[in-house]
Amino acid sequence: MSRGTRLRVGTAAELPPGTARRLSAGDRWIAVFNAGGTVLAVDDRCPHEGGRLSLGSVEAGAIRCPVHGACFDLRTGRTLEPPAGEPLTPALEPGIRVYPVRVIGDELYVDL
Ligand code: FES
Repeated sequence: MSRGTRLRVGTAAELPPGTARRLSAGDRWIAVFNAGGTVLAVDDRCPHEGGRLSLGSVEAGAIRCPVHGACFDLRTGRTLEPPAGEPLTPALEPGIRVYPVRVIGDELYVDL
């Protein structure tokens, strides 16, 4: 999928606060969250061992991976906590990729 692609998420009503959605974007997956009314999008792949972040729990603007508990800031992608019992390695430190979300009318889109 080329850069500059806009991915439709759905209507705002289809993603109420506290819910998440997983979208296919060619060779990757994007996780979209409604965190207390703010819609945020990140790669749906934990950089530790590939956990699906869309199945994780949102805690105060961060996503906790359901596999080993690493925690990432949903706005910046920064790693806030390493996986349980492990140090924060250079491979994990960059965190996850974040994507801009646009609201056009009643529709939500992710810019890739
Ligand atoms: S796969 Fe996400 S913390 Fe291990």
